[in-house]
Amino acid sequence: LNEGWERPTKQRLLVVANRLPVSAVRKGEDSWSLEISAGGLVSALLGVKEFEARWIGWAGVNVPDEVGQKALTKALAEKRCIPVFLDEEIVHQYYNGYCNNILWPLFHYLGLPQEDRLATTRSFESQFASYKKANQMFADVVNEHYEEGDVVWCHDYHLMFLPKCLKESNSDMKVGWFLHTPFPSSEIHRTLPSRSELLRAVLAADLVGFHTYDYARHFVSACTRILGLEGTPEGVEDQGRVTRVAAFPIGIDSDRFIRTLEVSQVQEHIKELKERFAGRKVMLGVDRLDMIKGIPQKILAFEKFLEENPYWRDKVVLLQIAVPTRTDVPEYQKLTSQVHEIVGRINGRFGSLIAVPIHHLDRSLDFHALCAVYAVTDVALVTSLRDGMNLVSYEFVACQDSKKGVLILSEFAGAAQSLGAGAILVNPWNITEVASAIGQALNMPADEREKRHRHNFEHVTTHTAQQWAEFFVSVLLPTVATFPSDFVE
Ligand code: G6P
Repeated sequence: LNEGWERPTKQRLLVVANRLPVSAVRKGEDSWSLEISAGGLVSALLGVKEFEARWIGWAGVNVPDEVGQKALTKALAEKRCIPVFLDEEIVHQYYNGYCNNILWPLFHYLGLPQEDRLATTRSFESQFASYKKANQMFADVVNEHYEEGDVVWCHDYHLMFLPKCLKESNSDMKVGWFLHTPFPSSEIHRTLPSRSELLRAVLAADLVGFHTYDYARHFVSACTRILGLEGTPEGVEDQGRVTRVAAFPIGIDSDRFIRTLEVSQVQEHIKELKERFAGRKVMLGVDRLDMIKGIPQKILAFEKFLEENPYWRDKVVLLQIAVPTRTDVPEYQKLTSQVHEIVGRINGRFGSLIAVPIHHLDRSLDFHALCAVYAVTDVALVTSLRDGMNLVSYEFVACQDSKKGVLILSEFAGAAQSLGAGAILVNPWNITEVASAIGQALNMPADEREKRHRHNFEHVTTHTAQQWAEFFVSVLLPTVATFPSDFVE
């Protein structure tokens, strides 16, 4: 594969994702303020030192006028970002509709729209047409900026059509595609009306990556069962052309979390939190307020634990940070009210004049506050009903080297495959099981906590985001780089 190929200095990596890693706020007709969000993907790609990354994606705002578009394009260029402008109608049909009301629930095993979501099913065809149109708009921007030798890395379920659009305009382009969600069993995928077209579009890529071996296997069986193609040890074969398919489990920039704990402001915050919760064990949930995260189920399990363990009622607190997301999608609006109602009921039932058992926040924390909260936590509850990987579990572990708290982790999160030996694994649908895991975690002897933490900490600090990104790119474009043999699960 590419024998004798020499990498020119600073080859360009065009990273295409639905959302750019910035939040843009318009300050005037032609001025914008930009804030870079240092999420997992950003730090991963900053770590790929031999490549110069450029980002192509939607800035998350509607900019109908040319003056605003030009100004935003200029401001973004300084951050090596290139915008794709999507109008309101496309955002409604492609992002809120096809991506987040159809593909997202389906890939997380919640099925296609039923009952009150049926109205959406009726507009399925038009949403799919918008999805393809939006993917073509991303492709047009890539083509406009592409230079010979660039590597293009497409991300996530929003852009399953992109590899096909790109290869149609330039069959020599090196194209990789990575899915950040689970890829479901082929029996689930086959319910999707556009199942074949989507699979074929993804297969246009040179390399297709998933977080776990299971997701890769599901994808290959969807291609064999639905398209009748041949599965090979490398991937999927169609008329002599092989699309390579493999697992590349993502990680985090663990050093960034560990270093941040040393910052004096963070130390100060840790001290305050310890004083605030003195005499109580701290349990923590950090999730986007999304139905896949299993927040209502988690809170009901906590209620059951309090019900059955009166001793703990004034000795434990659950901090639930629920970050609002996709707030224009009705399902998400309903979930918010549902969670508020449950939290209110439980606090009314078990709270006192001075304390409540659940502190629920409908917002995100800044990075320093987040690290401080992770550091003071005794038990983290990551109980997603399904989750591609779930990096909250990794972030918690990275911040726990002095406390050695316990991680309760859903067996349906990709992270269960890497942190399973150190965590208490649970079926999040089984409230009784989660309630008893809470008891086990709170009562766990120090030596067992130490042993479990050691396993997880070792994994999180040696399987980082940077390695993940380098590994994917090196498989897409083989180089001399070597990686730990256990990196692919
Ligand atoms: C998941 C997806 C990402 C997405 C993120 C936030 O992690 O895999 O692609 O960016 O959720 O969702 P949003 O819809 O706000 O971009």
